Amino acid sequence: MKRDEDILELIKNRRSVRKFQLDREITVETLKSIITAGSFAPSGHNNQPWRFVLVKDKELKSKISKFTNYGSIVNSANALIAVFFHHPDSYDRDKDLMAIGACIQNMLLYITSLGLGSVWLGEILKNKERVRELLNIPPEDELMAVIALGYPAFIPKPTSRKPVEELIINVY
Ligand SMILES: Cc1cc2nc3c(=O)[nH]c(=O)nc-3n(C[C@H](O)[C@H](O)[C@H](O)COP(=O)(O)O)c2cc1C
Repeated sequence: MKRDEDILELIKNRRSVRKFQLDREITVETLKSIITAGSFAPSGHNNQPWRFVLVKDKELKSKISKFTNYGSIVNSANALIAVFFHHPDSYDRDKDLMAIGACIQNMLLYITSLGLGSVWLGEILKNKERVRELLNIPPEDELMAVIALGYPAFIPKPTSRKPVEELIINVY
């Protein structure tokens, strides 16, 4: 079991990685372990409204890359995880979307703990319908994000954060 300082270090050390070592492979087993990490996120009524499509295939990555300005990241990634909101499991859109965010963050942190890198891609949502159709997914599943992951080409510099004092509105 990790100590609390280790968990804080893991959270602080996660970086958005946008360049990966080409032609490295991530196994389906590893991808499944990442999905397992995501699936342990909390959700309202434990409704678990998330679904996933795993993409390792180079040609399919290339087709997906056309739907975002971040296509070079998609192409360089060793794998993609497309995250969907499964509408039949929904009970409250706002809360379901928050749960899916928690699920994604669980995956990003676990990916970091494996020594891999990842980035949460949201800009691609401007073409969410086209990505869904390309992946042969029915309209009851709505694309929420694409996670690009792989072996980092390099570890990016840390990004800045607002000081905690600026974030806390009040202490009573
Ligand atoms: C909802 C959301 C959407 C994002 N979309 C993109 C994206 O489309 N392209 C990209 O390069 N990074 C994207 N990011 C990553 C952010 O740019 C990144 O998390 C932020 O700049 C902080 O950097 P860090 O993750 O290294 O701490 C997204 C992050 C979130 C949470």
